[in-house]
Amino acid sequence: VEERASLKARIKQLLREKQAVLVSHYYVDADLQDLAEETGGCVSDSLEMARFGRDHPAKTLIVAGVRFMGETAKILSPEKRILMPDLDATCSLDLGCAPDEFAAFCDQHPDRTVVVYANTSAAVKARADWMVTSSIGLEIVQALHAQGKKILWAPDKHLGSYIQKQTGADMLLWQGSCLVHDEFKGTELELMRAEHPEALVLVHPESPAAVVAQADVIGSTSQLIAAVQASNAPSFIVATDNGILHKMRQAAPGKLFIDAPTAGNSATCKSCAHCPWMAMNGLQNLLHVLETGANEIHVDPAVGKQAVVCIDRMLDFAA
Ligand code: 13P
Ligand code: SF4
Repeated sequence: VEERASLKARIKQLLREKQAVLVSHYYVDADLQDLAEETGGCVSDSLEMARFGRDHPAKTLIVAGVRFMGETAKILSPEKRILMPDLDATCSLDLGCAPDEFAAFCDQHPDRTVVVYANTSAAVKARADWMVTSSIGLEIVQALHAQGKKILWAPDKHLGSYIQKQTGADMLLWQGSCLVHDEFKGTELELMRAEHPEALVLVHPESPAAVVAQADVIGSTSQLIAAVQASNAPSFIVATDNGILHKMRQAAPGKLFIDAPTAGNSATCKSCAHCPWMAMNGLQNLLHVLETGANEIHVDPAVGKQAVVCIDRMLDFAA
């Protein structure tokens, strides 16, 4: 505990000295979430991270999350220096959507509007008409559908099919998935709900359809935390990365939070429902980055110039 406290104090001092700002996602280590909040940075979902990074005047941002979040910050602010605690922190959705295969898929369907999830590489975004996050994907597809547009969606198949069902849009889906959310199980969730009939069921839409179908609230990380804040329920079943429980417990102290069931749920499964790449962000590597300036994110400026178009469209739509 003492070591953690001294690491945090040193990080705070360096953030001040270097005039750097920490932007953390809700799935990273609780200390990194707290540090972001305590030092004038932000902890939020991926849409808010993008907007906060773009609007903040600091010349250096430290993005504690996964690679696509750092890349999005760089694409939106090419003049800023973007550092990350670990550059190998990626995402199964990004890994499962190689830019060349994606470009070939788009080439086969030139009549479709290309909508990609934020969890993709800069090169994939460069090929897209729209980027969306889980907090606003439904509204954007709804608007495109109302304009009569047919959609090519990538990469998350669960989020894509959820949006497709809700909007009735014509959507051709890439078959990617999040390795964390893909593990939540519908049948086991039914049993859990029967044991906790009073619990509100909170589900991130990267989860499989059988899990989404049982949700009381479906939304981005920020939207799920807001639902906890607004609810009178005494307990919550949570189908998303358990890094989010830190903020949920702050939002509703004393209430009961239960991890939604995964196939591997057991006393011995410590990493269930926690993203291995988000877990790569820690106090030690954050300090190292602040001390050395290591782990800078670079995006090819030509690719960034193309990719920014689809991100700006989302941010303008959300404004
Ligand atoms: P949010 O945009 O809801 O924060 O989700 C990002 C993510 O990676 C979820 O797995
Ligand atoms: Fe990607 Fe899933 Fe990790 Fe989010 S939780 S960064 S979607 S692998």
